[in-house]
Amino acid sequence: MIKCFQNINRPPVWLMRQAGRVLPRYRKLRETYSFRELMETPQLAADVTLMPVEDLGVDFAIIFSDILTVPTALGMEIEWTDFGPKFLKPLCEEKNPSKALKFSGEKFEHVYNAIDIVVENKKAPLIGFCGAPLTTLCYMIQGVSSKQNFPEAKKFFYTQSLETKKLIDIVTEISIEYALKQVEHGVEVFQIFESNAGILPTEMYKELILPSVKKIADAVRQKGIPVIFFPKGIGMGLINITSEICDIVGIDWQTDIWDARRLIDKKVKIQGNFDPHLLLASKDKIAEEIEKYRKFFDENPDWIVNLGHGVLAETPFENVKFFVDTIKSLR
Ligand code: CP3
Repeated sequence: MIKCFQNINRPPVWLMRQAGRVLPRYRKLRETYSFRELMETPQLAADVTLMPVEDLGVDFAIIFSDILTVPTALGMEIEWTDFGPKFLKPLCEEKNPSKALKFSGEKFEHVYNAIDIVVENKKAPLIGFCGAPLTTLCYMIQGVSSKQNFPEAKKFFYTQSLETKKLIDIVTEISIEYALKQVEHGVEVFQIFESNAGILPTEMYKELILPSVKKIADAVRQKGIPVIFFPKGIGMGLINITSEICDIVGIDWQTDIWDARRLIDKKVKIQGNFDPHLLLASKDKIAEEIEKYRKFFDENPDWIVNLGHGVLAETPFENVKFFVDTIKSLR
């Protein structure tokens, strides 16, 4: 399915948030440029995208951008603080949220230009991405990343169902346009990040959000590009992730990978799911935990190795490199 990895007899490996964070060369660049400057300058974004391929030896590049490009293109202003993104006027403060959004496609141009540079480089297959509607809307409505499961956004979903549906439709439509353009510019795989899948009851997620995820995935898959869906925290809701939805599902670190395999449609491949905190441990411990996955690999040769969420900023670079090298030595 991912053509270049059909004939290697080890699992391919990449890491969520591999571009940035733990890379010494990225940290050095951050002394000169803000996150926004790096993201919005195509040559710099392309350089950062390729760093983990060059310095860690991962098998895929993922475009250095953010899921919050979609709200930006919808006219929302974001300040990137040291504590994460902050929206100047979150939708919970708007009288008519869906009317407050004004789409301008040029705001995506820098992403497409960065993709062109990376693709031209031919160093590794490139993963494109967007946020799934729920996660994107949590930020748009609440305005800041929150450790309390986005209570304002949840209240909005329950109390303003008509507006919620309108907003889901807007974000879905723009995400489809954005995804298809990324494909036109040469991404070979596409990941949909639903980091907040766990904040809604399973049935509500299935009814309200999953049809929109399917719409985005369908558009991309129709172009022959495989789709990875990462519904973090979805729990038993994994039973709803069929091959109708995606080609590959990213499993979070909370879920046992064998349970995930039993719950998910057999036609869907699995990506994941090492705990990011494992990479803070000793190399012996990392090797020991990888060894526990050997049986899974023997029975699931199409497994894609990744973490069960983004690599932690405080992870030592050598540990991440050791993890990637150890996976690449599996046979
Ligand atoms: O995976 C990659 O390496 C590609 C780039 C990428 C970034 N963000 C760069 C980034 C991707 C795929 C994302 C996705 C993203 N962004 C998600 C979904 C995945 C997840 O982690 O749950 C979410 C929820 C966001 C929103 C976001 N962006 C937050 C909440 C923050 C601040 C906190 C944090 O995690 O750092 C960001 C900032 C961000 N996005 C950084 C990077 C490299 C850090 C910027 C810096 O300070 O250098």
